[in-house]
Amino acid sequence: MALDITYLGHSGFLLTDGSHTLAIDPFLTGNPKATMQHNQVKCDYIALTHGHADHFGDTVDIARANKATVIAAFEITEYLGEQGVKNVEPGNTGGKIKTAFGWVAFTQAFHSSSYQGRYMGMPCGIVAHLGGKTFYHCGDTGLFSDMQLLGEIYKPDVAAIPIGDRFTMGPELATKAAEFIDPRTAIPIHYNTWPPIEVNVSKFAPSGVKVNAMKPGETWRAE
Ligand code: NI
Ligand code: MN
Repeated sequence: MALDITYLGHSGFLLTDGSHTLAIDPFLTGNPKATMQHNQVKCDYIALTHGHADHFGDTVDIARANKATVIAAFEITEYLGEQGVKNVEPGNTGGKIKTAFGWVAFTQAFHSSSYQGRYMGMPCGIVAHLGGKTFYHCGDTGLFSDMQLLGEIYKPDVAAIPIGDRFTMGPELATKAAEFIDPRTAIPIHYNTWPPIEVNVSKFAPSGVKVNAMKPGETWRAE
């Protein structure tokens, strides 16, 4: 059992255990840091943290091309149904869904969620268990002390934490978030995609947590 993590840039990932592949927040078209086009993505599941365009991204095209199942907040899956995406698993904050590879759970995130002016339900974080590892994608969020509780409950091996400031935590608060969650490895996300979220990644320096600042297109086998 192993989990291979490919960073798509911004907040996007492909997670694979060799049999199943889960895409999270696959924003490629219009992402200046993307190294892959949406028609190159092969996956059987997609999970979304929230409806903002820099996360929803190419979900409709990727889901259609792969007949992938989309795991997302109820309001997002309703919208996807209207777009002809029928394989959906609606959920909401606090819930867990069994999948062919393991499970996906929704955590809270302090943010907002809309798409083209339409309300898209609660913003969430996504916890995914596959390849014998647990991966916590915080979504877009501010700092909250229940991150410590989520760390205790899910014991994530890897946490993807937004550090770009302005719309999410900046590196200083994200450092505290990583110490609360206490994963083995933290991957900074949602930074340096555009000038308003340019930050110095070296300021993200949690104690007791390894930082892996992945490059877009890079694949890393989780420890
Ligand atoms: Ni957002
Ligand atoms: Mn965002």
